[in-house]
Amino acid sequence: MSDSCKKVYITTPIYYVNDVAHIGHAYTTIIADMLARYSRLVGYDTYFLTGTDEHGQKIATSAEQRGKSPKEYADEVSGKFKALWDDFDISYDKFIRTTDEEHKIGVQHAFTKMYEKGDIYKGTYEGNYCVSCETFFTDAQLIDGEGCPDCGKPTSMIKEESYFFKLSNYQEKLLKLYEENPEFILPKSKAKEIINFVSGGLNDLSISRTSFDWGVKLPDSMNDDKHVMYVWLDALLNYITALGYGTDEANMQYWPAKVQLVGKDILRFHAIFWPAFLMSLELPLPDHIAAHGWWTRDGEKMSKSKGNVVDPKEVADAYGLDAFRYFMLREVPFGQDGDFSQRALMDRINSDLGNDLGNLLNRISGMSGKYFDFKITSKDVEKYHQKELDEVHTILENAQPLIYTMQINRYLDEIWKVLTIGNKAIGDYEPWTMMKEGREEEAMALVALITNIMAKVALLLESVMPEKIGKIAGSLGIEISTESYNKLIKNKELLEDVTITKIDALFPRIEEELLVTADIQKVESKVEKPRKEAQKQKQQDQEPDNLITIDQFFETTLKIGTILEAQEVPKSKKLLKLQVDVGEETPRQIIAGIKEFYSAESLVGTQACVVANLKPAKLMGMESQGMLLAAKDENGLHLLRPEAQKVAGTKVS
Ligand code: MSP
Repeated sequence: MSDSCKKVYITTPIYYVNDVAHIGHAYTTIIADMLARYSRLVGYDTYFLTGTDEHGQKIATSAEQRGKSPKEYADEVSGKFKALWDDFDISYDKFIRTTDEEHKIGVQHAFTKMYEKGDIYKGTYEGNYCVSCETFFTDAQLIDGEGCPDCGKPTSMIKEESYFFKLSNYQEKLLKLYEENPEFILPKSKAKEIINFVSGGLNDLSISRTSFDWGVKLPDSMNDDKHVMYVWLDALLNYITALGYGTDEANMQYWPAKVQLVGKDILRFHAIFWPAFLMSLELPLPDHIAAHGWWTRDGEKMSKSKGNVVDPKEVADAYGLDAFRYFMLREVPFGQDGDFSQRALMDRINSDLGNDLGNLLNRISGMSGKYFDFKITSKDVEKYHQKELDEVHTILENAQPLIYTMQINRYLDEIWKVLTIGNKAIGDYEPWTMMKEGREEEAMALVALITNIMAKVALLLESVMPEKIGKIAGSLGIEISTESYNKLIKNKELLEDVTITKIDALFPRIEEELLVTADIQKVESKVEKPRKEAQKQKQQDQEPDNLITIDQFFETTLKIGTILEAQEVPKSKKLLKLQVDVGEETPRQIIAGIKEFYSAESLVGTQACVVANLKPAKLMGMESQGMLLAAKDENGLHLLRPEAQKVAGTKVS
């Protein structure tokens, strides 16, 4: 098949709409975007899918807690994901929502097919269910007889009528798939745990629920409207319904997917259930299910309740989107966990991007301007620099296969080797000496070599840093296109004559951390404790005792909370027990000493300012997970409240 008609389909997981996007979501999406952009550049007919996962009990409960209908709530959060990806210039071809009508029809169509094939039957399910993971677990899998083995939250025992998918029928076929396609699961190291899991035996999978109704109904032909589909069946099928499966199937020509990106936490669903569903539907299987690791802060999982979530938009706004993309792709080998730190990001910007890449471009425009009035010809490059050219071409040729096997950090390592060849050549050959000695032809060949290196590197970095590379291309007078790729990379040709345009520094040096949000600083103060402590000591030495720095102030997380419930604490004169929504998955229980000043009923529905990062404390045997701010004088005690209603969880600063 010629490259231009080769189809490449890339997918991200679809994101749950019960949370805002954090760097973990941005990571998956940026990797997928990089693959899609590279595929388009190479000339493949590429389709890139992302979207949101909107059904299930978890979403219904989150909506209810916010007093919204599930659809209203899903519209709002899905809109935020889409807006973020648009802001990040993510080059998706379709943004699917599982509440889309075509998706629902497609899922029902798939259900019917599986049923007709004899892969679905009706039975009764009894088991431990984790709402957060929307998954059943056996007793043996639970932590301490109750906790979910994936997220640790308590599970609940559920008994209900359910439809089942005959997953047990697919055990042998799945094992054969893994054996015959050792790169089906990437990185390969992750395949072992899946193979072990499947070898241990597969239970049939419960694929419908009757305990709630926020989901896709069964097809009419089933005549059973008590049931909605299990959210993972509904969600996984998005990868084909987005291509029109069961409706307008024209885009099914993109199936099977080349790479389906997932986080390691959802590998099991994609490496076991998904291929089994596809086998049942008699559809071909994707080439790769690629599972990346997790981003942590200070070695801890990010979560709203811990207050250590990194907002990708804040990072991109502060440091630049392309630098953020580069950092995520370069810093961590695919599949491994990574810890986010502003220091590491700054080092990458100052060293790799500023020194190695940005500076080389400066040197090109400096030398071409000074010696050749910005006009460069490649005509003598091969005469003087065949060795360097061969080296560059070999590296770039060997680097590209690393992309689809998800060794993206190694791919970038290789490209940086090429930049080193360029930077080193300038030092080794000293074009300024050549010019002094009248060896103009040689000096031109050298500057042209560097310009060619920069052009080739730019083509191969466009998928990683589209905006900055656009600027480099503008400076070199080249176009980032499949035609240029074919000429300069595939056919290893050299540039035509070009005129260089001088541009501003692409990656100015960053000396100081640029993020100053409470969350980031709080975590960073743990990560870089010694440095911050020294800083604090220095400031304290210089400042009067009762003044604090803004850093110290931000160590306290203040949020607006909505009081959902209030009860008197029996036998206590002072205490009220409150349930306060601070924008997290579940409300916080706060025990407040305000009974003498407020009745329980008068508080329900009102808002107050909450200290959200206090260590939990026990008051009269009850855990208090925060504190309300109040002011007390001779006129009594009054809670501090926002002047106008605020969204629960809004930060106070
Ligand atoms: N809705 C399901 C996916 C269904 S796909 C048919 C889901 N959604 S999610 O929003 O919870 O997570 C989506 C992706 O984000 C997952 O791949 C997950 O691994 C990734 N991340 C969420 N937190 C993460 C980090 N802290 N770090 C890296 N990625 C993580 O699961």
